[in-house]
Amino acid sequence: MTTTSRPPARAGRGHSRVLEVSTAAGPGTTRVVDEPLAPTDRGTSVLRIHRFAVTSNNVSYFRTRDQLGHGRAFPAASGWMRVPVWGDATVVDGASGGPREGTRVIGYLPMATTVAMSLEPRTDGTLVETSAGRSHLPPIYQQYRVVESPADGLELATLHIEALASALVPDLVGAGVEHVLISSAGSKTGQALAFLLAEAGVACTGLTGDRSAPGGNAAALVGYDDLSSLSVPPGSVFLDIAGDPRLRGRIVAQCGGALARTLGIGGTRLAGPIPAEYAGPASPVVERYGAGPRLAEMEREQGTDAVRLLRERTRLRLLAWARETVTVRRLDGLGAAAAVWPGIVRGGHGATEIHLVAP
Ligand SMILES: NC(=O)c1ccc[n+]([C@@H]2O[C@H](COP(=O)([O-])OP(=O)(O)OC[C@H]3O[C@@H](n4cnc5c(N)ncnc54)[C@H](OP(=O)(O)O)[C@@H]3O)[C@@H](O)[C@H]2O)c1
Repeated sequence: MTTTSRPPARAGRGHSRVLEVSTAAGPGTTRVVDEPLAPTDRGTSVLRIHRFAVTSNNVSYFRTRDQLGHGRAFPAASGWMRVPVWGDATVVDGASGGPREGTRVIGYLPMATTVAMSLEPRTDGTLVETSAGRSHLPPIYQQYRVVESPADGLELATLHIEALASALVPDLVGAGVEHVLISSAGSKTGQALAFLLAEAGVACTGLTGDRSAPGGNAAALVGYDDLSSLSVPPGSVFLDIAGDPRLRGRIVAQCGGALARTLGIGGTRLAGPIPAEYAGPASPVVERYGAGPRLAEMEREQGTDAVRLLRERTRLRLLAWARETVTVRRLDGLGAAAAVWPGIVRGGHGATEIHLVAP
């Protein structure tokens, strides 16, 4: 269900239109609010948002809003959440000491036409959001990359995968892992990880509800309805993107003792709270793997320059993957984003398509 709180007004520098999701009624209910942007405090810049991608990743931000802190990134009225997305934006009203007008950035944004942020330039050329309201999140959710020209739509569509892939692929390769099992292999994250791991010589088996998903040469696909045929070599690592504890229990049982580790990566198929019987000590041990905390750790271990180079290489490989695999579906306006959102919550948005919204 979608509601509009007021007749849509033209969004300008002093106004913003924002798509919010109801925390009271559930992820299928949205509204578009039209509000004046609060007069900018000293140090606050106003950015016009050009485009952002919407996938199951953003639904996961909604579902884990309290545990992972995405619910507080862009404050909303009680009962609503401004779900974060990844996209590009330009500074239209610069603060003194902040980025100048016309600076174009890529990063973590609300589903909105404009946003006010406290951006500080850093010596490495990036901008960092420094407001206290964002300090609980890992640095990747505070850093903005400055770009000279509009980014390729395919790059915007894969931004949410880049940090994870930059950390996880070298971690698995460095640990000598030879085979991974991926649930929700039909997700863009699952497909892209399989592609990058295959390039690095790691074999993949993918579990999916959609066997027409383009595993390509990267992963051998098995349907959830055919789990009894699943077998993996000893020492395999399970990358659990589906996140459904019942499904995970069945998969781990089917693999016997062959799984060396289970990493909790996502929650595409996690619709509600985890039932108590699946959270107890008898359940399979799951190590939560988040790109944000892991990249922060890697920066401390290897230095920021090394991690920047690693991320740049991953960005280019992801773009190569997306060019072969992904079709960008462009949507105009927050109303169009609100119209596709319930389908994304239900998971019916297709394995090769990514919605890119011009708000
Ligand atoms: N840990 C991290 O740092 C990190 C980073 C990036 C992404 N992620 C996570 O990776 C997951 C995938 O994100 P994405 O943006 O790549 O997703 P996506 O491409 O939008 O995923 C779509 C796929 O997810 C499954 N799915 C989604 N919703 C479903 C539903 N309601 N019911 C049943 N199946 C559903 C289906 O695949 P199947 O049929 O194959 O299950 C569907 O084809 C998200 O949970 C995201 O949070 C985690």
